[in-house]
Amino acid sequence: MKLSNVKHLTGKVSIPGDKSISHRAIMFGSISNGLTEVSNFLEGADCLSTISCFQKMGVSIERDNDHVLIHGNGLHGLTAPQDILDVGNSGTTTRLISGILAGQSFTSHLNGDASIQTRPMKRIMTPLQMMQADIRSDKGNDCAPLTITGRPLHAIHYDSPVASAQVKSCVLLAGLYADGQTSVTEPILSRNHTELMLSAFGATVCSKGTTATIDPDPVLTGQKIEVPGDISSAAYFLVAGLIVPNSEIVIRNVGINPTRDGILRVALAMGGDITRLNERTVSGEPVCDLLVRSSSLHGTTVEGEIIPTLIDEIPAIAILAAYADGTTTIRDAAELKVKESDRIQTITENLLAMGADITPTDDGMIIRGGAPIHGATINSYKDHRIAMSFAVAALAADGETTIIDGDCVNISYPGFYDDLALLSR
Ligand code: S3P
Repeated sequence: MKLSNVKHLTGKVSIPGDKSISHRAIMFGSISNGLTEVSNFLEGADCLSTISCFQKMGVSIERDNDHVLIHGNGLHGLTAPQDILDVGNSGTTTRLISGILAGQSFTSHLNGDASIQTRPMKRIMTPLQMMQADIRSDKGNDCAPLTITGRPLHAIHYDSPVASAQVKSCVLLAGLYADGQTSVTEPILSRNHTELMLSAFGATVCSKGTTATIDPDPVLTGQKIEVPGDISSAAYFLVAGLIVPNSEIVIRNVGINPTRDGILRVALAMGGDITRLNERTVSGEPVCDLLVRSSSLHGTTVEGEIIPTLIDEIPAIAILAAYADGTTTIRDAAELKVKESDRIQTITENLLAMGADITPTDDGMIIRGGAPIHGATINSYKDHRIAMSFAVAALAADGETTIIDGDCVNISYPGFYDDLALLSR
């Protein structure tokens, strides 16, 4: 993929459905009774992996573009897959589905691509094993491929060492099949889509501070779900609108759940001209349109409680920081090392290639903004968020940028380059 400097960005863009919410709609619909109808479903490769896993367990799922019908099998109605469950590149599929599989009456095998085979699964194996689940890493390295032999589960309280919605959701989903109330406490509240959506399907979920508690064996009933646009996808346009001079864009239909909206708070703190329009609620989630204008930005510090609310947006925030005046320091974000790529390394390598002044640290990075940014060859390492962040950086850089394996954007945003091109016409 090749991109160059643009004069300005103008117009409106509608954001595809939220990835986290799309995964959950398929999973919860599959274990509910009756029909679940999903609109604005994200047609990215990750969410298609989730659909294919549940189809292999006997769930009838029909998809017409971003409209999906799930004929749920009920909490105890999944059937043994005849084949390996292929999770592709998707950490969310792997970790959430493991919680469901742990409580089934059959054995399943999970595997995915080269990246997923290096991502840590001990974080879910530990609490699941405390619940007496039988989950093994086939190679003994605490990564996929995983073998899960379903069995009756024991309810626990889990004090999670990481603020991870994937860990929390895995334990809560296993809790549906446990012999009592299951709860999870996390160090900082992570995204709460599981709690919100499982309640809508009929589960009893109680959230107090950073603890979520779930009752076992509910009757789950199919729902109509309109998936809000993904703030993690909106992030690229937000950054583009702020850094490309003479720009004014509207990003429509952006989910602004407070457990996800950290990038808005950071961009405002950096001097970004951002206005929330048409605030509303869609399927229990807060949504708005964002009006974004080019801005003169300054550095900031990003640390502590805000980190889980913007963890996927740090590559985009790093681009903002490179175009801002002054220093931006990002701390408490060691989780970046275990995402689709080691994002501390991949952000650093690629920003250096574009001429930015960046120092990686153990749990983040320090970016001294203001250095002239020029086009370069970017190695995406097949990480969709690295490819999209650097595509945006290219729009305000001097000269041409080439993104290696740029088609990895299909993981979460298949029409990304087309939407970007529409705004730059
Ligand atoms: C997700 C949770 C986050 C996020 C990922 C999606 C989810 O991961 O980075 O892209 O849908 O629950 P962690 O739970 O590992 O923080």
